Amino acid sequence: MQYAKLRSEAKYNLAASGVMSYPLAELPIKLEDLEINGPTLYGYEPLLERLAKLNGVTPDCVVTAQGTSLANHLAIAATLEPGEEALVEWPTYELLTSTLQYLGARVRFFDRGLERGFRVDPEEVERKITPQTRLIVLTNLHNPSGTLIHDATLNAVGEIARKINARVLVDEVYLESMFEQRPHPAIHMGDHFVVTSSLTKAFGLSGVRCGWVLATPELAQRMRHIHDLYGVNAAFPADLISVIALDNLDRVIARAKKLLAANRPVLDAFLQSRDDLACVRPEYGTVVFPKLLKGSVEALDRLLREKYETGIVPGKYFGEERHFRVGIGGDPDMTHVGFERLGAALDEMRK
Ligand SMILES: Cc1ncc(COP(=O)(O)O)c(C=O)c1O
Repeated sequence: MQYAKLRSEAKYNLAASGVMSYPLAELPIKLEDLEINGPTLYGYEPLLERLAKLNGVTPDCVVTAQGTSLANHLAIAATLEPGEEALVEWPTYELLTSTLQYLGARVRFFDRGLERGFRVDPEEVERKITPQTRLIVLTNLHNPSGTLIHDATLNAVGEIARKINARVLVDEVYLESMFEQRPHPAIHMGDHFVVTSSLTKAFGLSGVRCGWVLATPELAQRMRHIHDLYGVNAAFPADLISVIALDNLDRVIARAKKLLAANRPVLDAFLQSRDDLACVRPEYGTVVFPKLLKGSVEALDRLLREKYETGIVPGKYFGEERHFRVGIGGDPDMTHVGFERLGAALDEMRK
């Protein structure tokens, strides 16, 4: 996260994982729509109602939180006691592992690497669980590879969890970027699923920090009480803006889809042209995670920054040193030049 915050910025930024920022000016907000203080308490009701509708659940299943980040924190704190075991996908989003460890979990991993096409294999999950496993942790779409976990696989993992009285936490923050094609959130597969998400990645609305957890009403209530330890109340102006954004989600989605539709062919053409990379090309989402077949990603990253003003995320931040992650949610002109420069740097490395 420190790398993402302090060192990933570049003129040609392929390091960002979400859709570029949605401007406030493009939402129909008047100053009189906003207020500083209001009834947030255990969630601002109009916001809970909209998030419940978006996800096909009742508002008592929704817990609002600052981004998917705090949503994950609450979900883990409410489902695991210190010393209990979590089984996490590998490679993974590092903050999931560090939050689990911070909250005292013992972390084990199961493999969903490139050799498996970044797919989740329920048999591999079954091999890695132990009677102590209380939580299985997945991202869908996968960060860093963008790979979709299909419902049948999620169901199979759910069954494995249910048999040992464990739960499955699915971070769906990138699933939102499937828009109308987004499958139902995994919470609909049973009470042993817990889902987290936010308006951050697919919609370019990170600044309102509108995150949420979907869980059974009892578990959701436990999370609300845990939230009292961290934030007590939400930022009311942010909740008001989130409600307006959700009421106008069509226009936010239209812009995101336009950006991704412009950038995906650029990514495809780039990957098509490279025999020095191995990459699973996901159909959806905002990121991919190529493997550099020869040479060091650290050297590539340095060359890109120093000579080509271009940013990528080295795979070591996901535990895979030979890979790097690039995103396609940025401005199309910038993204186009970014991939040209990435190609030039790769060519230069080969000399
Ligand atoms: C899988 C995953 N979950 C959560 C987050 C954080 O999301 P938010 O900005 O909504 O807190 C990220 C950000 O990179 C992420 O990749």
